[in-house]
Amino acid sequence: MTRIVVVGSINMDLVTLAPRFPDPGETLTGDRFLTIPGGKGANQAVAAARLGASVAMVGCIGDDAFGRQLHDGLVAEGVDVAHVARVEGVGSGTASITVAGGENSIVVVPGANGRVTPAQVEAARDVVRGADALLVQLEIPLDAVEATLRIAQEEGVPVILNPAPAQRLPLEWLSQVRFLTPNQHELAAALGAAGDADFRDLMRRAPCPVVLTRGEDGAWFSEKDEEPRHQAGFKVEAVDSTGAGDTFNAALAVYLSEGLEVAVRKACAAAAIAVSRLGAQDGMPRAGELADFLAARP
Ligand code: RIB
Repeated sequence: MTRIVVVGSINMDLVTLAPRFPDPGETLTGDRFLTIPGGKGANQAVAAARLGASVAMVGCIGDDAFGRQLHDGLVAEGVDVAHVARVEGVGSGTASITVAGGENSIVVVPGANGRVTPAQVEAARDVVRGADALLVQLEIPLDAVEATLRIAQEEGVPVILNPAPAQRLPLEWLSQVRFLTPNQHELAAALGAAGDADFRDLMRRAPCPVVLTRGEDGAWFSEKDEEPRHQAGFKVEAVDSTGAGDTFNAALAVYLSEGLEVAVRKACAAAAIAVSRLGAQDGMPRAGELADFLAARP
């Protein structure tokens, strides 16, 4: 069984379905409100577990009702939570999400996610050792991300760094990762490049292999010093794109042992399934559903 470690955020998503996005200062009447477990780290952990991997999560929750729900949700998905810490006197991370017309807008309050430390990642070194892949994103403090990259490198574990939310990153970090998995905007930000730069040029400039997500267009991918290759996206009716990128990252990690091209195809398919359903974790497919989806699209 593929062993995956995820170091990252754990949020409660406060989701409002609206007919459209409100203008600044405008009050709108929404259609529905839901609380759904989310956070880029937890989403990737749950997606990988649903696809059949053995998954351990490193992160923090608050000592509140959301924290208990988030903890129990991860346990119910079979994720190892031995390195998920409950932080006293701090609220759990939240994401206020508006979904309209298949698109979303998100405001994240980090809460306990801001308390993940290098020492907490170091304490999980035994779990990292022997993992097939480690997934990390940027919704936790950057010193914890840096420690994660260092520990994974010391233990010889390949890292998939999903550089979201977008920010500039030290080049030496990028050269330590097995794959960087940005969208176009995140790749430009990570490299400190102009937002309108051609994404293929940016991929060639990156000091590491890149798997770039392009929404409906699918993904572009390249090993280092290789020309970018394209995997077309799978057509579905978009309901909610929240967590689709997280599903993509998880599938990429789970199927990497089958070769990059196969892993990217499966990741695009898993993300398409997620987009066709409401909610981040609620929309993530199981391995059997993914196999059926792909079998219907040879
Ligand atoms: O990637 C989607 C996630 O981003 C949401 O679940 C939300 O929690 C934010 O962290």
